[in-house]
Order: sequence, then C-alpha cells, then structure tokens
Amino acid sequence: MAATDTGDANRAGAGSAGGELEAELARLLAVESFDPPAGFTPRQPEQADARDAAADPVGFWAAKARELLSWDKPFTRVLDDTNPPFYRWFDDGELNVSANCLDRHVAAGLGERVAYHWRGEEGERRDVTYAELLADTQKLANGLLSLGVAAGDVVGIYLPMIPEVAVAMLACARIGAVHNVVFGGFAPSAVRERMEVSDAKVLITVDGARRKGRTAAVKAGVDEEMADLPKLEHVVVVRSTGPVGGVETAMRAGRDVWYDELLAAADPVCPPAPLGAEHPLFILYSSGSTAKPKGILHTTGGYLLGATYTHRAVFDLDPETDVYWCSADVGWITGHSYIVYGPLSNGVTSVMYEGAPDYPDFDIWWQLIAEYKVTIFYTAPTAIRACIKWGAEYPARHDLSSLRVLGSVGEPINPKAWLWYHEVIGGGRCPIVDTWWQTETGSIMISPIPGITSTKPGSATRPLPGITPALLTEDGEPLAEGTGVLVITSPWPSMLRTLYRDDERFVQTYFSRFGPRTYLVGDAARLDADGYFWIIGRIDDVINVSGHRLSTAEVESALVSHEAVAEAAVVAQADADTGQAIVAFVTLRGDQVGDDDMIAELRDHVAHRIGKLARPRRVIWAEDLPKTRSGKIMRRLLRDVAEGRELGDVTTLRDPSVMAALAAKVATAP
Ligand code: WTA
Repeated sequence: MAATDTGDANRAGAGSAGGELEAELARLLAVESFDPPAGFTPRQPEQADARDAAADPVGFWAAKARELLSWDKPFTRVLDDTNPPFYRWFDDGELNVSANCLDRHVAAGLGERVAYHWRGEEGERRDVTYAELLADTQKLANGLLSLGVAAGDVVGIYLPMIPEVAVAMLACARIGAVHNVVFGGFAPSAVRERMEVSDAKVLITVDGARRKGRTAAVKAGVDEEMADLPKLEHVVVVRSTGPVGGVETAMRAGRDVWYDELLAAADPVCPPAPLGAEHPLFILYSSGSTAKPKGILHTTGGYLLGATYTHRAVFDLDPETDVYWCSADVGWITGHSYIVYGPLSNGVTSVMYEGAPDYPDFDIWWQLIAEYKVTIFYTAPTAIRACIKWGAEYPARHDLSSLRVLGSVGEPINPKAWLWYHEVIGGGRCPIVDTWWQTETGSIMISPIPGITSTKPGSATRPLPGITPALLTEDGEPLAEGTGVLVITSPWPSMLRTLYRDDERFVQTYFSRFGPRTYLVGDAARLDADGYFWIIGRIDDVINVSGHRLSTAEVESALVSHEAVAEAAVVAQADADTGQAIVAFVTLRGDQVGDDDMIAELRDHVAHRIGKLARPRRVIWAEDLPKTRSGKIMRRLLRDVAEGRELGDVTTLRDPSVMAALAAKVATAP
C-alpha cells in the first residue's frame, strides 16, 4: 500500500495529545511505502544523474568531478583499474581540498557567509564565516609547517566539537599533511595506540572538554599516555575551557605549544599546496574483526568528490538558502564527510553543536533548529529513540517548520522510530533519507533521493547514481531478491584506498572472499521485489552500539588485560535504545570473586583502555566458555543465551554442559 502524504506543518503539535499521536503512528505502521510528500519539490535533477551514471558510470564521475570541484591541474585519466583492488581516480589531476572548501567560496564573494553557527553547551555562540575559517586555516597551516610538518606527515587530532577541529583538518589538507582524528570519547590510551601505529608527528588537542556541565582534563590524560612516543614531536593545545573555569594544564617546554600562540605568531598567508588527486587526505581508525583497529585511508580527489556530490544529492541541498545540521561527532566518518568536507565544499551554512542532546534540557536540539531555522537535519536512530523516550512534548515546544529534509545514519532505523521522526519532527512534510554507508565507503552509497524516491520505513532504498551494490549468496551467486551478503561490484571515487601501511590486510579484509574487483561490505542485507535494500547488520565480529562500531576482539583484549580476568568473550545483544549492547562473559582467575565491585571495576577498566562507549552493559561470570574441540569460542551460542533464545546445536562443544550452566547464570544476572 502506498500513502500520499499531504503533510501538515503543525502536526508536531500533536505530541501534546499523546493518545492521538500514538494512534496515528500505529495506523502508519501498516503503511509499507510512502510517496514523496506532495508539497516537496526536489531541486536537483537527480533522475538525469541516474540515467547518465547507468549509461557510463566512469564518464558520469568525470563530469561530476569537473562540475563540482576546482582543479589546479585538470585530470586526463579518470579511473585506473589496472591493478585491482588498488584503484586510482583522476590520478594525473591536482587540487587542494582546503582551497575547494574555503578559497573558492571567498573568491566568489561568499567570505561573509557563516560556515558554522557554533553553540557551546553553556549557550555560548560563535558564528564563524568562510573568510574567518580561511584566515585561521592559513595561520595554523603555517604554524604546522613551522613545527616541521611536511606533506605526507601524520597529524593527530583529538578535539571536542569546536570550530578548531575543522580548522585543524583543513590546515592539514592545505599542506598535504594526513590527519588522523580520534573521537573525543575515546580514552587517551586509544589515542596513544592510534598515534603510535600511524607515527604521528604532531597531536592537536585541548586543555579540557566539557560535558553536561562538567569539565574533564584532556591534555593531562594525553601527557600521561604519550610521554614516551618517540615520533611525536609536538602537542598543540587549544584553550577551550576558559569561560567556564579552565583546567590546570602543564606544558612541556620544547614539545607543547598553545594553539592561539601558534596562530598569533604565524604568517597569515599560506597558499594551498596543489596535490595529486591520490595524495592521502586522512586516516580514520575503525573497528574490525581483530583487536587491532584498521587505519582506513582516504585520498584527495575521489573522497572530496564523493562527499561533495552526495551531500548535494542526498540532502537536496541549495547552499544559497539551506541551513544544515548534522548532529554526529567529527571524530567519526559521518563528521568528516558531512560536518566538514561535504558542507564546506558545497559552501553551505551549518550548525555545529558542542553539547549533549539532553543538556541543559531535553529540548536543546529543537531549540537550536528553531533558532537557526535549520532546513536539513541529519542524525542517528539511537538519538531518535532517546527523543521518543523523553517525549514529543519537547519538540512540540519549538517551531520546527523550517525543516525540509531529515536524514538518518549509523544503523538500521526501526519503523517506529522512522515514523516518529517523520511525524513529530518532520510534521509529515519532510522526506526522510535513510543513508547507508561506512567509514570505508567515504560517502553515502544507498539512500533515497528526497522528493523522488518513495520510501519504506527501515529500508535505505536504492543505490545512488554510480554505485553498484549487489547481494550474493555465501557461494558468491548473485541474488535478484532475498537475503545475502552485501558487496559492491565496481569501484567508486570515495572508496578507501588501503589500510594504512597494511595493504595485505586491506586485500584480505575486503577483496579476498569474492576476488579483487568485488568489495565485501561486511553487512548482510535483504533485497526486495522493488529493488530496495534492507540492511540487516554486520556479518563479522563488529558490534554497533548507538551507531558506533566496536570490535568484540578489542573489548575482549581490554578485559583480559585486567589482572583478575582469565578469559573473556564478548557478544552483542539486541537493545531497544542502543540497537546493540555489549555483553561480556568473563572467567576470573581462581582466587578472584565475581561480585558487583568487580563488575564496576571491569567496566571502568574498559572505559580506561578504550572509552566509555565500549563498557559492557552486562558482565556474566562464566566458570567456562563454550568451546569447540579445537578450542574456538562459539560466540553464536553466547548470543543465543544472552538474548534468551532456545539453544541451538551444542553437540560440537568440547563440554556441552557448559551451556546449561551459563543459561542459568544469565537468567539470574542483572
Ligand atoms: C551500519 C557509519 C543500516 C552498517 C556511516 C555499516 C547502517 C556500519 C546504516 C558502518 C544505515 C550505517 N542502515 N546500517 N543507514 N548506516 N550502518 O563505518 O552495519 O561507523 O557497515 O560508518 O554501520 O559504520 P561506520
């Protein structure tokens, strides 16, 4: 059944009449497919793109690269696919990402346009224009050069959501340094690991970070972990906590420099370096099947094209009139592509918000949308589910009629959350784009086009122009319909180029199962009769907690690094709020007692080693773990007990009685 939704700008107000809203959502749950809202007129000729891309995908990308990006030296070669999976795009062309994000807009007379309406969590405001961003970027770029950073060197960035994070990324791009951003929620020891394996020369960080009214020292933690990194020559420190009570920050002479002093001393002019299109732009570490994070490497031309094109197409963007807000953190790929590079390359005005969605109150997001007249809002299903829990009365306090397009990313969105987003936030008149992609893909791959694609709640719908996903059986046979393994069958410009300094793991992880021309995504999906993709979830040992990718092996290795732990196995359990939650089965050493204090201690230990987001939701004491005769832990069985399912076949276990004992434990565990 298809429903044509005429929309009603005031429908969000129905939130106060809770019963009515519930009834409406229950009715809509039966609707399978939503036509584009009648009042919505798309701005971009996307159907033409789809036609062009189907006829000649490589030619389509070449045309987009010429239309959307400014090149210092035009490319003559579009795709070099002679050595798969090491593809090269536009590789004899030269350009600079920061010049595309800043200089060209300022040169076009848009210097006074606001790039970011920044809001601090205590309500501070800063409007940063494109001209100001360009000025600071040039100074920091010169500052980095003065610290000895050269093209190809790695610069770590460990910053909260403040405009300086964009300046830091752009300053690297300006001189060809490779940035390596670490999410501010990761612990300093995780930062250390990422700096060490990438041989970072400089780290840009902050004195302290604020969260819900409290300030935590950041630089002090960095010092503790990074005192002895031989390759790390300098630490640049942003003074961020000033107005609400600064934190004591020790500076080591010769190594540490204040960001503001570095900028004040720097020459204001730093011409953008013309860089080859395949020059590395950044590394972003992401979780994989082993405890060692993968350094996903993106390069200059193809990545910028992917971010720029998809940001326009998927959000129906008009840089002249839209106000755009992506609520992600810049430390994830979503922040890289859709807070920094896509929006700036397109020259739009964005909102950047430092704080949490529930501080000072549950309506802060909606207050900001009303105040800045945000037209495009991009968030994650887990955030929407939290908002549902807090109640529709919070959005109902504010005028959300400026919104035109709503986006979702990070995990499958359940139809109930989709409908609430559609009705309560979008007033029924805003198309929802459920965008499927990954750190590896660099930019959005499967998504509706607003005003063109009919949407089905829970489906990311169809591939974007130029993208060729397919479903395969376990044996590699293509499926026209049904459930299978998701792959992408031809290269695209913003694909990862390798894993940093680990070509072998790159080939092994993504291009060995089905050959060097078929990218293995790592997700299972279903394809329906209309050609719509429904992402099911990961097929590897990666857990998705609130849209954050975590590796079971990484959490296990953090747990066993605690002296009381003999062995640990970590699995995911379905969770109504966070999508998945971490359950840890832990065997303690003989003399240790598994009590509540120990649970708290292990959770703290994981927070310290990786970050709070990796703390197990549940810790279950296991005298023994289910193992095959060859000693392999059977995580499938652990998932079954954690989720309270009937146990499958246990006959392959060395000791089948282990499972009954565990099931009894789980039944009584908190
Ligand atoms: C999952 C985030 C369903 C998926 C951009 C993927 C999604 C992993 C969606 C990548 C979506 C992301 N629907 N699942 N719209 N978006 N995922 O690298 O499992 O942090 O493989 O990139 O998140 O997570 P990553």
